[in-house]
Amino acid sequence: MIFRTPLLIVLCVVVLGACNSEPEDTRPGQPVAHRRAAFKEIIKVFEPMGVMMRTDSYDAAKLKKLTDELMARREAPWEYFKPDTLYPPSHAREEVWTEADKFEEKRKVFFDATDTLARVVETPDEASARRAYADVEASCKSCHKAFKYR
Ligand code: HEC
Repeated sequence: MIFRTPLLIVLCVVVLGACNSEPEDTRPGQPVAHRRAAFKEIIKVFEPMGVMMRTDSYDAAKLKKLTDELMARREAPWEYFKPDTLYPPSHAREEVWTEADKFEEKRKVFFDATDTLARVVETPDEASARRAYADVEASCKSCHKAFKYR
């Protein structure tokens, strides 16, 4: 009798753990895991820019450094959107593949916006840098709205 409660607790922990964790990417080359990891690397440098903009702690040198990092990371995710790579744990919509032209267009808007950001952070013009940051953010959001769940 006294063993029942601990056993129940152990079972709950095991079951909850299983519910919380996402399926692992076991496909050859792990394209889903790789592209998600690549986007996580992008957000790691993009999020601090947003914090800087929102908290009014603009720092031109820091923004330049983060932008350099963003430029170095912006190429990484795309090669992993190979054909037939929509499976759990991906959050991509099937439109990535069925509307590939539109996806490519959004990607180009993102590249153009980051090009502009990289150009203006070379100047002391804070207002332009803020606008360029906002355009990059809009390009992420616009693509996510059309091509990503959640
Ligand atoms: C051209 C489209 C496109 C652009 C531009 C884009 N993303 Fe994404 N992003 C996606 C798609 C599609 C996924 C879902 C990938 C998957 O789960 O297979 C994604 C996933 C992510 C994820 C989730 C990674 C995870 O843990 O699953 C983050 C974070 C992210 N993007 C950040 C960004 C940021 C920040 C930008 C802009 C600086 C950006 N993305 C620009 C299409 C885009």
